[in-house]
Amino acid sequence: MGALCAVLRSLRRSATISGLAVGALALAGCAGSSLGPSGAGGSGDEVTLGLLVPLSGVYAPLGEDMRDGFRLYLDQHGGRLGGRTVKVVTADEGETPQTGVPAAQKLVTQDRAAAVVGVVNSATALGLRDFFHESKVPLLVANAGADAITGDRGSPYVWRTSFANGKVGAALGPAVADEVDGGVYLITADYAAGREMVGGFRKAFTAAGGKVAGEKYTPFGKTQDYQPYLSAIRSSGAKAVFSFYAGAEAVNFVKQYKQFGLADKIPLYGTGFLTEGGVLSAQGAAAVGVKTSLHYSTELDTPANKAFVDAYRKKYNEAPTVYSVQAYDAAAVLDKALAKATGATGEDLAKALGQVGTIDSPRGPWSFDAQHDAQQKYYLREVRSDGGAIVNAVVRELG
Ligand code: PHB
Repeated sequence: MGALCAVLRSLRRSATISGLAVGALALAGCAGSSLGPSGAGGSGDEVTLGLLVPLSGVYAPLGEDMRDGFRLYLDQHGGRLGGRTVKVVTADEGETPQTGVPAAQKLVTQDRAAAVVGVVNSATALGLRDFFHESKVPLLVANAGADAITGDRGSPYVWRTSFANGKVGAALGPAVADEVDGGVYLITADYAAGREMVGGFRKAFTAAGGKVAGEKYTPFGKTQDYQPYLSAIRSSGAKAVFSFYAGAEAVNFVKQYKQFGLADKIPLYGTGFLTEGGVLSAQGAAAVGVKTSLHYSTELDTPANKAFVDAYRKKYNEAPTVYSVQAYDAAAVLDKALAKATGATGEDLAKALGQVGTIDSPRGPWSFDAQHDAQQKYYLREVRSDGGAIVNAVVRELG
């Protein structure tokens, strides 16, 4: 197999095989990329890492934050991880698996990345699982929360520095059941992430005695006008709303919720992506009062977070986001894993990922659980106007 893989790789490097799918399929059977010195993944002391984030589509701002978080860690460590000089190749995930899957395949088969970091969209992460599993190249998911990729469809090669969708939703369930007297309306973007966040919320919320007043799944990436849905919420008699939207969809939903006159009557809850970073700046005062669950806030009052926020602001002239932190931590994970890897293959790196221990993150210390997911705290946040600046104030830890 080794000789065959070497032939396939050299064919791929020559112009003979240019079709990505051909290259990807052929190489999926090979024993992954190696960490060098002269194999795939870099040469000499260098290691090549792929960064797959959306630089176009509704989630482009999230991808930019991830790229910036990853770069900040690298800059702070002299461009080296685990004692190796890092070459980063960036690819655009776009909005859906149709763009994200081929972009990831290119990073592995053409750029010969030793590992890939990134992926915002849950559907794209699900579409990539088999490719990374078969290629034996580690994928560090630094956002997409698809429950199955650290569950039923887990792999020794897939690790996640972010969250599982169901867990972020579930974290808020008991608090909403406690605070709201009456039914809660569920509304979300209609794809894996939204369905799983609402699913996790519903389970924990109803188990704590909460009642669902209605639900709606809005077409992902296509909905700009939420008025018909807001009318349905109003006439449902719901006493509160729980939702998942992110990026441009979150901006529109929260602004229209306020404009339609619901914000003052029916409290809005959601997972923290609803009011995160640039999204919150664009929503402005319309978001004040929205309560969310998340594993990060710029307002966390710890020395590690203060140092991170200061360094990030200094470099980029804006505040970091949960997306920046998840990618910053992916670099920290790779720093440890590359130092620990005892051999040069993707299998060796995957094994080392299981030995990284606790990551001392701006979000607080966390570690991988047995399913390769981040085991971490979740916080109840409330959007408040803090002397002009609008921030996600940390109300308390969620149990
Ligand atoms: C996802 O698709 O998993 C996803 C996307 C954007 C977010 C959170 C989750 O902000």
